[in-house]
Amino acid sequence: MSKLGYTVVGIDSDSAKISALQKGQLPFYEPGLAELLVEQLATGRLTFTTSFETAKDADIHFLCVGTPQKAGSNAADLTYVNGAFDQLLPHLKVGSLVAGKSTVPVGTADLLAAKLDAQAPHSDLAWNPEFLREGFAIEDTLEPNRLVVGVRKPESEKLLAELYAPLIAAGVPWISSDLRTAELVKVAANSFLATKISFINAMAEICEAAGGDVTVLAKAIGYDPRIGSRFLQAGIGFGGGCLPKDIRAFMARAEEIGANQAVEFLREIDAINLRARTRMVDVVSSELSQGLKGARIAILGAAFKPDSDDVRDSPALDIAASLLAKGASVVVHDPKAIENARLRFPNLNFTTDIKSALTDADITLHLTEWKVYRELDPVEIKTWVKSAKIIDGRNALDSDKYLLAGWRFRALGRNL
Ligand code: UGA
Repeated sequence: MSKLGYTVVGIDSDSAKISALQKGQLPFYEPGLAELLVEQLATGRLTFTTSFETAKDADIHFLCVGTPQKAGSNAADLTYVNGAFDQLLPHLKVGSLVAGKSTVPVGTADLLAAKLDAQAPHSDLAWNPEFLREGFAIEDTLEPNRLVVGVRKPESEKLLAELYAPLIAAGVPWISSDLRTAELVKVAANSFLATKISFINAMAEICEAAGGDVTVLAKAIGYDPRIGSRFLQAGIGFGGGCLPKDIRAFMARAEEIGANQAVEFLREIDAINLRARTRMVDVVSSELSQGLKGARIAILGAAFKPDSDDVRDSPALDIAASLLAKGASVVVHDPKAIENARLRFPNLNFTTDIKSALTDADITLHLTEWKVYRELDPVEIKTWVKSAKIIDGRNALDSDKYLLAGWRFRALGRNL
């Protein structure tokens, strides 16, 4: 927003994060964002504070807080949404607009709107879900593939259209709806993406059983434009702070509104996804004649996806922890996520040096498809490991190169 020329104040209750941001330091890794932050701080248009009081001058308030999975339940935890909204309410100026961005169960915006109508009737509420992917946050924000706004009043749509005018002028499709549809668009999109990934992972299971190759199958079906080739990368499945908890929260909310049957299939999507992790552990175990106990396992990747240091519900770390629990000696490498991974799994061994991760390994697992792993030379790294066995959990390595260099190469959904 600052890059688009607006004056922006970022508010957070975490004072450590705010003071880091004020100094131009990001609390997470996102390609290009550190540079953009420094650039925008220098313009003077972008500031950060812990004080809600500052919100009193703003025309538009974006509510961007997280909605994690509730402990012990599939439902979304709305503590942060409600907390931020309640703290904001007393500071809304006449004619201002609160635009929700958080991914919420359908009906949440209605509840917030009712509160706003009672306590700040001079303001309005809209829902404006975002679809940005970690690792592509800047691109997805400045060049989104659509803008969706759920509104109650034409004036609010007008205000948002003015705000996004440069993007609309650049041809970004504009979709306006009611609040509930806007909330649902977000969870429907993430559910579809999760379904696509689990579909191809189900096909990977079939390929393994029948003797086929899921990567060829994905390529072949992907040429049909009705199917499309993206999000058909078979492997250890989806993780992160969005897809897994969003499909669960969707099921929980559907049940509350008496429509549980409609999204019952998401339970299977979740099960296929989690099964990919256990299948990986089983493949590792089947490759080690001496068994898992005491085996030295090198793991390439800890983040839930490349170009991110996010380890929330990371399939890679889940697999690393399972192998450790089964008695293996596990060393995990990641270019960016080690610090976060260590906080979650203090018992695992981590290194930022690929060579020391691979040294003396009985088996190597490729679990997050960072570019740096694709650039490894199979001939060179073969001299580091004890046993030249690699399992590609992301179907992203060049199997021919590894096979040519004399590696035993396995991948989920392929019979090599
Ligand atoms: C996801 C959505 O893609 C965004 O559109 C959405 O805005 C965001 O959630 C959100 O709700 O905030 P993100 O969590 O950054 O974005 O990650 P994705 O790129 O969707 O990947 C999710 C997981 O699926 C990763 O673990 C990735 O490795 C895995 N994946 C992805 C596959 O296993 N196969 C694929 O073909 C694609």
